[in-house]
Amino acid sequence: MTFENILVEQDDNLATITINRPKKLNALNKATIEELHEAFKILNDTIDIKVILLTGSGEKAFVAGADISEFAHFSTEEGGRLAAKGQELLFDFVENLSTPVIALVNGFALGGGLELAMACHFRIASDNAKMGLPETSLGVIPGYGGTQRLPQLIGKGKAMELIMTAGMINAEDALKLGLVNYVVTQDELLPLAEKLASKIVKNSTVAISKAIRAINNGFKDGVNGYSSEIEEFGNCFGTEDFKEGTTAFLEKRKANFPNK
Ligand code: COA
Repeated sequence: MTFENILVEQDDNLATITINRPKKLNALNKATIEELHEAFKILNDTIDIKVILLTGSGEKAFVAGADISEFAHFSTEEGGRLAAKGQELLFDFVENLSTPVIALVNGFALGGGLELAMACHFRIASDNAKMGLPETSLGVIPGYGGTQRLPQLIGKGKAMELIMTAGMINAEDALKLGLVNYVVTQDELLPLAEKLASKIVKNSTVAISKAIRAINNGFKDGVNGYSSEIEEFGNCFGTEDFKEGTTAFLEKRKANFPNK
């Protein structure tokens, strides 16, 4: 896969997408959002790929936000369309992917950058990372899901504070708030992601995709998460993975999931 703004690598069951605009601190312009959509779609449809890692190029930034130079002159309608298109192509798309996506927050994750990290299924960070939603300092609000996902992850009061102050928090504070799951040095970030991925790939990809759906449905308006869980739990009983997983347990051996 060749793109202009992102790099995509595959190593066995693991794919890594690196947003590659380091001179612009990996800011998300329209072209990058479209390429990310394409790459995530292809990788999600590739049966061999069981975990996707997402990170930023260079040592300074994961993503420093949406590309401000592209929307500074937008009208009300264009602003609305920008948010809707971005959510559809990237942020909601990643959140609802059936393949697990881990964000490796390797530096600044601001505005759309933090929103992208929050759309991933979970996040790990390097100790130099700085996170925040500075949009109100630009006279706008987060438009790629930040007003929704930040309160889900860290609670309403803290989210209100971060958005109103347009402040940045460091990696340790993000860890305390539950915004990221682990903090390590920059050198340790990829090895940690690979270690976590190696645990995930041992499990049923079919079950994992159903768990993602049930968890996400608990946060959606008009959808009952418990009902989704019951439905997906039942669906698991019809899968080859369930037969293999339970048979392997009873036979006291490791499961070798067909991922069907
Ligand atoms: N959109 C467009 N360009 C961006 C950008 C963004 N969100 N964030 C950084 N850049 C560009 C800068 O304009 C600069 O480009 P230039 O060299 O052509 O002038 C380059 O990336 C490097 O950024 P710079 O500001 O010089 O780095 P810094 O180390 O001084 O500051 C930040 C780093 C992250 C604090 C600062 O870049 C920043 O505040 N960025 C915007 C963050 C933001 O508000 N994001 C939310 C957008 S909705």
